[in-house]
Amino acid sequence: MLKKILTGAAIAALAVGLGACSSTRPADGGGDAAGASGDCNVGIAMPTRSLERWINDGEQLQKKLQDAGCTVDLQYADNKTDQQISQIQNQISGGAKILVIAAIDGSTLGPVLEEAKSQNATVIAYDRLINGSENVDYYATFDNYKVGTLQGQYIEEQLGLKDGKGPFNLEPFAGSPDDNNAKFFFAGAWDVLQPYVEKGQLVVPSGKSPANDDAWASIGIQGWASDKAQAEMDNRLSSFYGDGKKVNVVLSPNDSLAIGIEASLKSAGYTAGAEYPIITGQDADKANVKAILDGLQSMTVWKDTRALGDRVFTMIQEIKDGKEVEVNDTKTYDNGKKVVPSYLLTPEVVVKDDVQSKLIDSGFLKASDVGL
Ligand code: BGC
Repeated sequence: MLKKILTGAAIAALAVGLGACSSTRPADGGGDAAGASGDCNVGIAMPTRSLERWINDGEQLQKKLQDAGCTVDLQYADNKTDQQISQIQNQISGGAKILVIAAIDGSTLGPVLEEAKSQNATVIAYDRLINGSENVDYYATFDNYKVGTLQGQYIEEQLGLKDGKGPFNLEPFAGSPDDNNAKFFFAGAWDVLQPYVEKGQLVVPSGKSPANDDAWASIGIQGWASDKAQAEMDNRLSSFYGDGKKVNVVLSPNDSLAIGIEASLKSAGYTAGAEYPIITGQDADKANVKAILDGLQSMTVWKDTRALGDRVFTMIQEIKDGKEVEVNDTKTYDNGKKVVPSYLLTPEVVVKDDVQSKLIDSGFLKASDVGL
């Protein structure tokens, strides 16, 4: 159900109206300074330029905000937590009233968010939740559990698991252990696939099969790094796939891991065609969409980052105008200190036949980006 949450400005106004006594902590939302002054000074902190999606995310939002007359500072932190913290500190000292943060390590930002609150900045967690802090006002993301569900269901359908087919050799991977999203992606997929592992329709020759959703980090790839995923897949193939044994399916939570896994398969002699494994992904990065067209990746879960940028832009407008901020989930994202009011967007599957209609016709990618 769609719920409306009052911004700090609205709550503060209400509190004053009711004659509430003063409190040093701004009301939840903390956006009163931004609302009252109409000030639109926004700091955007993105994790890295090494992944296409974050470049698009950051630049699109920056442009929209600048076109609307906001002052924007956009920073990328090379996947280094300390660098991200000091960038956010600079944004705070530069007078940011709204911070949009895609955290590198969602558990390390508590102290810097205290600083943000001391100047009444409103904090929006972007795509990834920030954990262990009261000072996260809103969260805008795609439905992360659904991303994993779509990957798991794709595998289930392609292999005919519901019809009892198998056994198939599966190699599962998970995302970066410091990224809160990674556990949701894994849980979504594993809730579909694990029952088939238990029935023996899916077999994991490497033994890297988490006993339950909570054990996901044991197969996590730090920093979502392609080269680490490649090295891990190299190890699994050389240690567990002797004597002509073939891998039939790889659960890859995103495209950067899929790229490494595909490189590993290539060097082990796998080529596109009937014997090539099913490989999942997420993000619709150009290189992966090319791989889909070439039969080297089966699908990707597409998250239209333009829609996420639009949602955050709307949130920022609502905050600075002192209006209610629209959210559609107030239950799922408990960061250990509070359940952060969230707006979840819907991800969707893209396979070879949808590349033109979903990605190119919508303008998300250019035909020339993917060799069409
Ligand atoms: C994002 C994914 C991305 C991954 C690696 C996750 O938090 O939701 O879209 O592939 O980080 O950057």
